[in-house]
This record gives sequence, structure tokens and C-alpha cells, in this order.
Amino acid sequence: MAVASRLDTGLAFTNVLLPTLAKGVIVRRSGVTALAEKVQADALAVATVKRFRARYGPEPLRLRVTGRSIALVLDASDAARLLADSPEPFRLDTVEKRAALDHFQPHGVLISSGEERAARRRFNERVLHPDKIDAEGIVRDEVDLLLRHARSTGALTWDAFARAWWRAARRIVLGSGARDDHEVTDLLRQLRGNANWAYLHPKRKRLRERFEARLREHVERGEAGSIAGLGDPDEVVGQAPHWLFAFDAAGIVTMRALAIGGEGHAGIWESARLWPTTPVILRESTEPTDWHGTWLPAGTTFIVFAPYFHRDRDRLPYADEYAPRIWPLPAEPGIVPFSGGPGACPGRDLVLVAGGTALEVLRPHLEVPVLRAPLPATLNHFGLSFVTRK
Ligand code: HEM
Repeated sequence: MAVASRLDTGLAFTNVLLPTLAKGVIVRRSGVTALAEKVQADALAVATVKRFRARYGPEPLRLRVTGRSIALVLDASDAARLLADSPEPFRLDTVEKRAALDHFQPHGVLISSGEERAARRRFNERVLHPDKIDAEGIVRDEVDLLLRHARSTGALTWDAFARAWWRAARRIVLGSGARDDHEVTDLLRQLRGNANWAYLHPKRKRLRERFEARLREHVERGEAGSIAGLGDPDEVVGQAPHWLFAFDAAGIVTMRALAIGGEGHAGIWESARLWPTTPVILRESTEPTDWHGTWLPAGTTFIVFAPYFHRDRDRLPYADEYAPRIWPLPAEPGIVPFSGGPGACPGRDLVLVAGGTALEVLRPHLEVPVLRAPLPATLNHFGLSFVTRK
């Protein structure tokens, strides 16, 4: 198995991993995201990984990092194996994820292991079900109001969209009593801001306690029609920080889907393929694993850089186009906007319903698409704005 030269290890960090980190993994930083769009940072990242594959071959590429075993995955079949064989022997709760997510969701399924993880996963799968909550009705309500506002100003901006989206998210997760409680999601945003820095930022215990107390008030109402009404309050309080956090990604994906004229579930899927909101999927091996005859030690961190698998023009003729026809089951195993296997996103169907409904309500009233092929490698959602139709 190839080991990257020092220079290439450096390039893996400067061109691929650091720009992703700088944009903000847990909450996006608007200034850096705008800059990333300007320089089309993802184009350079994808080109860099492609060069590695041409130079070193398809096997996972070991990076030269002292004291750690880190491998960059270069072949879609290896990415598929990692996801299929999670959480054993490829755990989801890697060192990096624990360091980041512990700031705001210490009981989240994504950073849990063993029996605890299995129980939390089952709970997520049970309650995150579009048939159990009227996500469609809630989104329709909030987006109708948003549309009225947009028509009065002549434009739909990201800021206005995000306000409406958060109202919908709080209603879906916590119930109508939380609709206007900006503070609960603002507190979460502050904690997520610290989580961007993972272990470099001290934990703010008091801030987390304030957030959790406020969250618990809503959860204990157990409002019918919300996810909080579907489970034991302690379990909900443990998982809801992730749900609220993840609705941010769902809003970003929805707004970008509008920009390409996306429709229905395939519109949401395509937006998430073209601009994955989890660009770096990590796994860590719990035992030595055999990669085409070479053994990598237990504790190896595997990096699946999704944009490389989603946007490689040499392998995918539709890489830079809106290609709804490839869904729901893309032939290419490396296309994984919602991850895959036993650790795949349990909120996916809810996202497809919520986002798809927003597209259906908004699309006929806006001048879309505003982007055409070849679609940009990096798209700053903060800068998106649509003119309303007369
Ligand atoms: C566009 C929106 C979304 C995208 C693209 C997305 C994508 C993903 C991805 C790629 C993962 C796997 C992470 C990993 O393997 O490390 C994941 C995990 C997860 N997602 Fe989502 N997600 C979205 C929205 C949501 C929403 C709205 C919810 C809940 C309401 C949710 C709940 C979860 C949970 C609980 C996990 C952890 C699963 C586990 O550890 O087994 N996601 N998501």
C-alpha cells in the first residue's frame, strides 16, 4: 500500500482537509465560505485527490502523520466497505468527532459506542420517521408565510429563508410551543461555534447547561405532532441537539436545490450530492484490517472525501450537472450524501419530505434556476438570493 510523500501529505492537508475545516464543519463560517466560493476551493480539493489516485493507485493512501495512522480512501468500493462494515470494525465515533460533538451533544448517537450506540440508533430510527410527524404540513405553513414576505420585498434571501426554516425545525423537533424560541437555537449555535474548534476550544459547561435546561422545558411538554412527543424525555434531550443541528444542513441543501431548479426528493438528493454538507466522512478501525493484502493497524482513521466521489468528471459524465435521474439508487457506490450502511443518516427521509415540500411551495414563485451546468464546485449558500415572479 502506498504511503504519501511528505509533500503530498502536506497537500492533502492544505488543499483538502484544512479548507473543509476552515469553512466550519459544525457551523459554517460565512466569511470563509464566501472566500471558498471565490477561489472554488472544492475544485482544487477534488483535483488534488484525483492526482493522488493517478500517482499512487486505488488503494487507501496512508498519510505521513507522526503518531497516527491516517488513510485517505481513493476507491468507491473501499468507501462502500467502510460504510457497510460500521460500526464494527469501523466505528463512527472517531477521536475528531468526539472532540467536536461533545461540546453540544455528549449523548448523541454519532459519538456513542457499543450497546449504548445500538440503543440510541434504534431510538433515532424509530422517531425520525416522516409518517409519524406532519413535517410536510409544518413546512408548508412556514414556507407560505416566507413566500408572502419574499413577494413583498421582491426577493428571497438566505437570511429570510433561514429564519423560516428554523421556525419549522423547532416545530418539527420540539413542537409549536418552541416555534418562536430563537434563544434555544441561538444557544445551540454558540455551542456549535465552539465545536468547530473541537479540542482547541474549552468546553463551556454553563452554556451547555443553559441550552439543555431550555431544551428540556420544550421536550417535557411532549407535544403531539413533534418528534419530542414520540419518546422518553431523557432520550429525546440526548438526541435533539443533533436533530436541531442537522436541520441546518437540510436548510442549506434545500436553498441550493432551489438554485439549480431542483424538484422533489431527487432535487434534494442532487443538491446534497453536488455540495455535500458532510464532505468528510470519518471512520476509525477497532482492529487491524486487511486492504488488498496490506494490514492497517487498529485505530487507523479513514477519510472518505465525498466531493471526490461525487464530482469526478472523468468517472461521472453528469458530475457537474443537475442529474435527478440517478436517484434514488445511484449506480456509483461512492455517491453517499447521507452516508450509507448501518450508520447512514436516519433523518434522511424526513429531510427529503421537509426539503421537497419547501421546493414545491417556493419554486413556482421564484425565478429559478439561477445556476446552470457546469455547476460550481463550491457554492456559498449565504449569498443565494432569488427574485420573486410577478
Ligand atoms: C441535508 C440534510 C442532511 C444530510 C446531508 C445528512 C447527512 C448525514 C451523514 C452523511 C451522516 C453520517 C455521518 C457519519 O457517518 O459520520 C448523518 C448522520 C446522522 N444524521 Fe443526518 N443529515 C442530514 C439531516 C439530518 C436531520 C434533519 C436529522 C434529524 C432530524 C439527521 C440525523 C442524523 C443522525 C441522528 C445521524 C447519526 C447516525 C448514527 O450515528 O448512526 N440528519 N447524516
